[in-house]
Amino acid sequence: MKETECGSKLKIGAGIIVVMLTVLLSGCGMDMISHGTVNDETDVKDTSENLQTRNRLISIGLSQIGSESDWRMASTDSVQEALSTANGFDLVFDDAQQKQENQLKAVREFIDQGVDYIIIDPVVETGWDSVLSEARDAGIPVIVYDRRINVEDDSLYTCWLGSDFELEGERACAWLYEYLKSRGIDRNINIVDIQGTLGATAQIGRSTALEKAVEANKNWFLLGAESGDFTTAKGKEVMKEMIERFGTNINVVYVENDNMAYGVIDALESKGYTVGEDIRNNEIMVLSFDATENGLKLTMDGKIAADTECNPLYGPRLMETIYALERGEKVEKETFIDEEQFSGIGYIGTIQVRNRAYTVTHLTPEILDKRSY
Ligand code: AHR
Repeated sequence: MKETECGSKLKIGAGIIVVMLTVLLSGCGMDMISHGTVNDETDVKDTSENLQTRNRLISIGLSQIGSESDWRMASTDSVQEALSTANGFDLVFDDAQQKQENQLKAVREFIDQGVDYIIIDPVVETGWDSVLSEARDAGIPVIVYDRRINVEDDSLYTCWLGSDFELEGERACAWLYEYLKSRGIDRNINIVDIQGTLGATAQIGRSTALEKAVEANKNWFLLGAESGDFTTAKGKEVMKEMIERFGTNINVVYVENDNMAYGVIDALESKGYTVGEDIRNNEIMVLSFDATENGLKLTMDGKIAADTECNPLYGPRLMETIYALERGEKVEKETFIDEEQFSGIGYIGTIQVRNRAYTVTHLTPEILDKRSY
C-alpha cells in the first residue's frame, strides 16, 4: 500500500471509531411525534453484536422514488447529506424514476449486495410483500419513510417515519372552510382535485380528506379529480383538461403538491383566468401542499391561498433511527413528523381539525428568507 493511501485509510478508520463511539454514546434528539406501539420484533439481526463487531461503515441501500418535485430533490439532498461517510455510512442511492418496478429491482440488488439496512421511500403502497420477504430471509432490516407500504405482515419492515397525509388534507380543507366562513361566502363552491401519483400515500391521504370535506359541506362540489403525477408538466396538462371540461365553473383548485401548482397556475393564467383568493369576483383559488421555497413565494404573491407543509428533511431522522438500532434500542414502529401550514392571508390564525386547534403561519418575507428548501 502507498503511504498516502495508507494515511487516508488510517484517517477513515479513525473516523469510523469516532462515529461508532458517537453511535454508542449519543441519544436521539429527533423533532418527531411518535405514535403506535414500540416495535418489539424489529428485524435487526443482533444489533448489540453488530456494534461490537462492525469496525466498518454501515452500508445502506436507499431506494428513492425519483426527482419529480422540488420536495423530492430537497429530500434526496437531506438523506445524502446525513447518510454520509463522515457520519459512518456507505450509502448506495438508487433513483427509481417514479417506477415501482425499478424500486423492486434496486431492493433486490441491495439484498444481493448484503447491505446492513435497506431504506425505501415507496412510490405506491401496494406490491411490496414478496421483496420484503426476501429482505427478511436475508436478515436485512428495512426502514420505510415518507410514504407508507401496505403489507399483510407488518413485521416485514422495522419501522416507518413520515407524514400524516390525510391530516395535511384535512388542514387544507379546514383552512378553506374558515376562509369561506370569515368572508361570509355561502354560495356553492366547485372544486377540482389535481391529484398526486395514484396509489401513493400522499395522494390517498390528501384526496380522501377532500372527499370527506365535500361530503361534510353540503355546498361544496367536487367537479373532477385526475392525477398530475406530482410533476409540473403533468399538472399543467391535467389543469388544461379541467379548464376545457369545467371552465368558469371552477372556484377552487386543490392541488396535491407545489410542483403541480406551478403548472396549474400557468395553465389558468395562460387561458386568461385570474388566480387568487377572491372567488366572489371570479378569481380561482389554488390550495397546495409541500410549502417549498418556490411554493411559499407563490403563497406570498397570493397565487396559492394556503400551502400545507409536507416536511422532506428525513436525513437526520433516518440517521438517528439507524444509530438507535445500532445501539440495540427499540424504535417506534410508526413516527409522524410535525408539520406547519402557511398563508399570505393573515386573518385566519387557527383552524380546527380533529378537535384540535392548528396554527396557520402568516407568511412574511422574513419567514420566506429562512426557508431552507
Ligand atoms: O410523498 C411526498 C410527496 O411526494 C410530496 O408532496 C411531493 O411533492 C412528492 O413528489
